This record gives sequence, structure tokens and C-alpha cells, in this order.
Amino acid sequence: MRIAIGSDHAGFDLKQELMVHLEAAGHTVVDMGTTSRESCDYPDYARLVAEAVAAGRCDRGILICGTGIGMSIAANKVPGVRAALCAEPYSARMAREHNDANVLCLGARVTGPGLALEIADAFLAGEFAGGRHARRVDKIRDLEK
Ligand code: RB5
Repeated sequence: MRIAIGSDHAGFDLKQELMVHLEAAGHTVVDMGTTSRESCDYPDYARLVAEAVAAGRCDRGILICGTGIGMSIAANKVPGVRAALCAEPYSARMAREHNDANVLCLGARVTGPGLALEIADAFLAGEFAGGRHARRVDKIRDLEK
């Protein structure tokens, strides 16, 4: 899978760790920054990742900030993006199966790195179940119009 990843300063260390993990698992990871622990603004990176996913340049996106909240709020402003903030693997799997989420948000100050890797794996392994869930996701798409 081709995965766009981005973080602010608070998520930088976790982003670096996740990139190594995802590449080892065979994914192509597109790093959209940030590039250091220097303070920066999370919406800038949310925009880059969300637009890459919405445009189809990447299959999935992962965004990390301190809580994951700012990233999820910002990413969900981009039409076509369904960003899910997850703090455990069950929600990450359901975000794919029921919500067809295409961007995962993580809070590096909330979720430890070991758990974050498990959450990312669950998200990337999850398949959209379709059926009644497709009808509901269509209604989300209607909200974008
Ligand atoms: C940065 O201090 C922090 O506000 C940011 O990483 C994020 O948690 C925002 O939602």
C-alpha cells in the first residue's frame, strides 16, 4: 500500500518509528513532514496528507499530533477524506470496516509507540465491509455537497 504520513512536532518521533515499521511491512511510505521536533502547525501537514489521499495519490494516510484531535479536525475538512482518531486497535479495524476511513489519526502524547504500531496495523489490514455501511458512508458523502 502507498501510505502518506505526516505529523507536527509532537508526533515527530512516533512518525519516524511508524515509517520504519510500515516500510519493514512492505508498504511504500510517503513522508510529508514535519522533519524535526521544532514547533510547527499541524493543519499544514493534515492538508498535505489529506489532499494526497483525496486525490488518489496515496491509498491511505496517517497523521500524528499530540492528541490526534487537531489532525482529525483538519483532515476531515478535505472532501473525500474520512479521518478516524483511534486509541486502540478495535476502533481502527471498525473505522475501516464500517466507516471506510482512509486516514488514521494518532495522538503521540496519548498512545504509546507499541500500541500505536498495533493500531496502524489494524487500520491498514481492515477492509470496508460495504452493504448497509456503504449506504451510511454515502450519506456522509452527501454532507460534503
Ligand atoms: C501541539 O502542542 C498540540 O496542540 C498538537 O500536537 C495537537 O495535539 C493538536 O491537536
